[in-house]
Amino acid sequence: MTTTPIDTRNDQDRAKLAAGRFAAEKYCFDGARLGLGSGTTSHYFVRALAEKVRDGLQVVGVPTSNGTRDLALELGITLVDLDDIDQLDVCIDGPDEIDPDGSMIKGGGACLLWEKLVARTSAKMVVVADHTKAVPTLGRFPLPVEIVQFSWGTTTRAVRGLLGEHGYPADLGIARRERGGSPVVTDNGNFIIDVQLGTARDVSELTVELNEIPGVVENGFFVGIADEVVFGWPDGSAQDYGFPLDLPLQQPTR
Ligand code: 5RP
Repeated sequence: MTTTPIDTRNDQDRAKLAAGRFAAEKYCFDGARLGLGSGTTSHYFVRALAEKVRDGLQVVGVPTSNGTRDLALELGITLVDLDDIDQLDVCIDGPDEIDPDGSMIKGGGACLLWEKLVARTSAKMVVVADHTKAVPTLGRFPLPVEIVQFSWGTTTRAVRGLLGEHGYPADLGIARRERGGSPVVTDNGNFIIDVQLGTARDVSELTVELNEIPGVVENGFFVGIADEVVFGWPDGSAQDYGFPLDLPLQQPTR
């Protein structure tokens, strides 16, 4: 994944920027050990954090992708190895979808494995998102599943078989992710398959069962991980919310 350039030309991007800035302001205290998410919203957060670091804030970060690592180093944020830390204080990362209970689909940027490892090693996970990411039910965004390259077709068939056992249609759309005609390879050297669930069900079960298939490395369901979510809005406002979310979201009054 490459670093994300600042672009505030459209509504969604302005909302992401607002969420990222809010999170840097609210959750990044002196001495904090931070998980640094991946994706455009997280990178707005990282840029806002870097401004605070330049002003004297002392933090260390663990990146959730090579892209975030490169961005953080370029901006002068001190990074540490996750292995050298028992627990991070806060992980701040973005979703592709988040439901009222805080369950998410992640992995649109192919970084789900490190993202889950870092989030799971954090005392608190704060989600940063533009307001469009809140959904009543997960599944419209295709579920990313990271699988090893060896015999990836076999693994894909096993994923289809498991979903069939859970009542999903036999012809469910499952595609290996490609970019420019070549398969996307994750920071861990694996492939991603994207599963068009439509309306997701049995999410808690599938989170566990998908990972039991030989060849599956991790799946993009994040259940019971998020503690709070910050939503940003195109007018530059942002607010933190607990779970369950009350949909439709109420925009903060300024
Ligand atoms: C990367 C992710 C991202 O956090 C997710 O795709 C959200 O990205 P963005 O902030 O660009 O909408 O899960 O694997």
